[in-house]
Amino acid sequence: MYSFIALLTFAAGIFAASAEHIVYSTVPGFFLQDLNTTNASTFDYTATNFGLINRTYPTDSHFDPHGKKTQWQRFARYVEALVFHESRKIDYKVIFFGRHGEGFHNAAETYYGTPAWNCYWSERDGNSTAIWADAHLTPNGIAQAQRAHNFWAHELDVQKIPAPQSYYTSPLYRCLSTANITFSGLKLPRSRPFVPLVKELFRESISGHTCDRRSNKTYIHDSFPSYKIEKGFSEQDLLWKPLEDETSVDQQVRSKIVLDQVFKSDRSTWVSVTSHSGEIGAILADLGHIPFSLNTGSVIPVFVKAERAKGPQPTTATQPYTALSTCSTQPPLPTATA
Ligand SMILES: *[C@@H]1O[C@H](CO)[C@@H](O)[C@H](O)[C@H]1NC(C)=O
Ligand SMILES: *[C@@H]1O[C@H](CO)[C@@H](O)[C@H](O)[C@H]1NC(C)=O
Ligand SMILES: *[C@@H]1O[C@H](CO)[C@@H](O)[C@H](O)[C@H]1NC(C)=O
Ligand SMILES: *[C@@H]1O[C@H](CO)[C@@H](O)[C@H](O)[C@H]1NC(C)=O
Ligand SMILES: *[C@@H]1O[C@H](CO)[C@@H](O)[C@H](O)[C@H]1NC(C)=O
Ligand SMILES: *[C@@H]1O[C@H](CO)[C@@H](O)[C@H](O)[C@H]1NC(C)=O
Repeated sequence: MYSFIALLTFAAGIFAASAEHIVYSTVPGFFLQDLNTTNASTFDYTATNFGLINRTYPTDSHFDPHGKKTQWQRFARYVEALVFHESRKIDYKVIFFGRHGEGFHNAAETYYGTPAWNCYWSERDGNSTAIWADAHLTPNGIAQAQRAHNFWAHELDVQKIPAPQSYYTSPLYRCLSTANITFSGLKLPRSRPFVPLVKELFRESISGHTCDRRSNKTYIHDSFPSYKIEKGFSEQDLLWKPLEDETSVDQQVRSKIVLDQVFKSDRSTWVSVTSHSGEIGAILADLGHIPFSLNTGSVIPVFVKAERAKGPQPTTATQPYTALSTCSTQPPLPTATA
């Protein structure tokens, strides 16, 4: 009997999965980061209220007749009204994408220069004084995460911004650590505690660089014991391959898969994802957002609309990893300038 029900449930799951797919878009007109006139390299989320544009919403007249509410309170009411009135085929989420603070690999790429980093240093675990395999945050990276923490504290206090209802993070240490520093110790509502879910597919573009090779599950758990780790997460990193790169087409496909996992399993409207520049870039493309490259430690919210469409997800063939180009001899060390 049990197995019969299990079988039915399994079949229903397959049916649902193949009969529908999700199409994403970004709802424009609410955030500066949606505008092609915003320069991502100089954009400062802390100076712009997370980029939330000053404007009115159709819900203002009922919610805030005396003009006492903050921009974020009024935006939150508008989004929640939209979610409430929309058909079951449409869902909205506001996802806060945070890029990790500077890691030792970022510092090393700056130190050695990108060509020498790519062809030689990135394939090694570190140099004689720094380790960048599954890189940890540099002191500068820790300060960037503390800045995000301070800004969230300010926004919760002053703007009454909705706290995330759920948190996700890449399994790479720099993101686990950034999320921890950003969200630990905030005055969060009791119903919305900071308990992130570690998801494999929120990881960075899987290059043959050692900074993209994750640690094992035991180490992740022991380092961040309060975090949840998704079901099926393998003990060892099975996706990283030495001297080979995941293709950008494959990354685009798996980024859609992880988004679908979140949208199919999580009814939250306010969501935080701590990830990487390459991966957030791939997700933004899946969401139909304009390209917006985040500086280390930056955070941008994105207003996402998800519509269920008939028919299976159009498939894209998986591509083999490609070989990384390397140089056989150590490139000359950077020369001191000035
Ligand atoms: C920016 O967007 C506007 C309107 O959406 C469009 O007309 C314009 O060509 C875009 N500019 C650039 C530089 O992409
Ligand atoms: C964005 O700002 C950077 C840094 O100031 C500048 O170098 C770049 O030209 C700007 N890009 C655009 C499109 O204005
Ligand atoms: C929004 O308005 C506030 C004052 O109410 C101002 O300080 C802030 O600079 C404005 N932000 C934007 C993005 O225009
Ligand atoms: C090792 O790399 C770091 C950058 O992560 C750099 O600051 C340091 O100077 C390098 N050490 C040596 C001995 O070159
Ligand atoms: C997590 O963050 C808290 C608060 O900043 C800090 O005390 C703790 O050491 C951090 N844990 C790890 C494993 O980074
Ligand atoms: C997990 O990683 C840690 C740190 O690198 C190592 O000490 C440990 O032996 C590994 N355990 C397994 C089961 O691979």
